Amino acid sequence: MRAKITILDGDGIGAEVAAAGESILQHVAKINKHEFVVQHELIGGISIDETGSPLTDGAIEECLESDAVLLGAVGGPKWDDPKAPVRPEQGLLKLRKALAVYANLRPVKPYPALLSASPLKSELLKKVDLVVVRELTGGIYFGAKTRDSHSASDLCVYEKYEIERIVRVAAKLAQQRSGRLCSVDKANILETSRLWRDTTCEIMANEFPDVALEHMLVDAAAMHLLRKPAHFDVIVTENMFGDILTDEASMLTGSMGMLPSASLGDSTRGLYEPIHGSAPDIAGKGIANPCAMIASIAMMLRQSLDLHGEANRLEQALIKAIETGARTSDIAVRGEKVLGTTEMTNAIISAY
Ligand code: IPM
Ligand code: MG
Repeated sequence: MRAKITILDGDGIGAEVAAAGESILQHVAKINKHEFVVQHELIGGISIDETGSPLTDGAIEECLESDAVLLGAVGGPKWDDPKAPVRPEQGLLKLRKALAVYANLRPVKPYPALLSASPLKSELLKKVDLVVVRELTGGIYFGAKTRDSHSASDLCVYEKYEIERIVRVAAKLAQQRSGRLCSVDKANILETSRLWRDTTCEIMANEFPDVALEHMLVDAAAMHLLRKPAHFDVIVTENMFGDILTDEASMLTGSMGMLPSASLGDSTRGLYEPIHGSAPDIAGKGIANPCAMIASIAMMLRQSLDLHGEANRLEQALIKAIETGARTSDIAVRGEKVLGTTEMTNAIISAY
C-alpha cells in the first residue's frame, strides 16, 4: 500500500525517537513492499523559534492530508517562561483538536522480561494487561483560563456528547477484551464528573448491557493501580485524570519510555505518540528509549493503515529484542548492557 505519514519531531528527545521511528517505518515498508511517503513538519518549541507559532496552519493542513501523524514530544526549559505568550504544549493541543482525535488509547502491558525493571513487585505485574481510554479534546485542558496578580482559574467543561462518544469507544474495546469497563471520575466533588457518571450509566445500560460497568473515584484508582493493577482491563476517564493515571501506569512497565499511544477520532486517520515527554535532561545524548515510539508505530499500522500482520510482527520484534537482552538505560537493571537509541532500534529491526 501507499500511505502518507507526517512526522512531527518536536523538541528534546522528540527528534531522536522520531528518527528511530522513521527507520522502523522504512524497514517495514521495504520488507512488506509498501510505500510510506514520509514528510516532516514543525511542532512545539522549535516551531515557536522558527515561525513564532507552536503549530502553523500549514503544518495542520499537511497533517489533515496524511493517513497518519507521528509525534515525538514537545516542550522544554527554553520555552518554560510563565510569562511567554505562547507555549510548545499549545501546539499539541491545537493538533489534537484540529485532527478531532478525541479518544486516546494507552495500552499498558508489561513485557515479561522487564518485570524487574518496575519498582512494583513482579507478582503484582504478571497478569497486567490494561488500556486507558483517555478523553483528549475536552475538559480542563481546553476551558477558558484567567490570570491576574491575585488569582487564576481554569475552567473544566464537558458536553454530554463528548462523554457519550468516548464511552462508546471504551465500551466497544471492552467488548473485544474482557467485557469489563471501569469509569474513573471524581463524582463526589466535581459537577463535570457527575455528568460523566450519569452519561456513562445511560450509554452503558442502553447500548452495552453486556459490558460490566464499574465506577471508581480517581484518587482510589491511583491507589488501586499500584495495589492491584491486574484488576483493571479497560479504564475510561476524562482528559486530565487520564494524563496523570497513565504516567503512573507507565511504571508498571518499568519506564515512561515504554508506553505508546494512539489518538483516534471518527475517521481512520490517527495521531500516534509516545506518552513520554521531551526529556530535556537526556536530549541530544542518543540514549532515549525508542520503544514507546516503535510501539506507537505498531498501533498506527493496525489502526490507521489496516496492516494487522505488519503491526503484530513489529510488536513481536519488540518483545524478541527485549527478551534477547536489548535495553536502553531506563529499563536496564543491575549490570545489564545498555544500548543507545540507534542500537536499540537496530536490535528491533534485526528482530523484525
Ligand atoms: C501527554 C503529555 C501532554 C498532555 C503534554 C505534553 C501537553 O503529558 O500526552 O500525556 O498533558 O496531554
Ligand atoms: Mg502526560
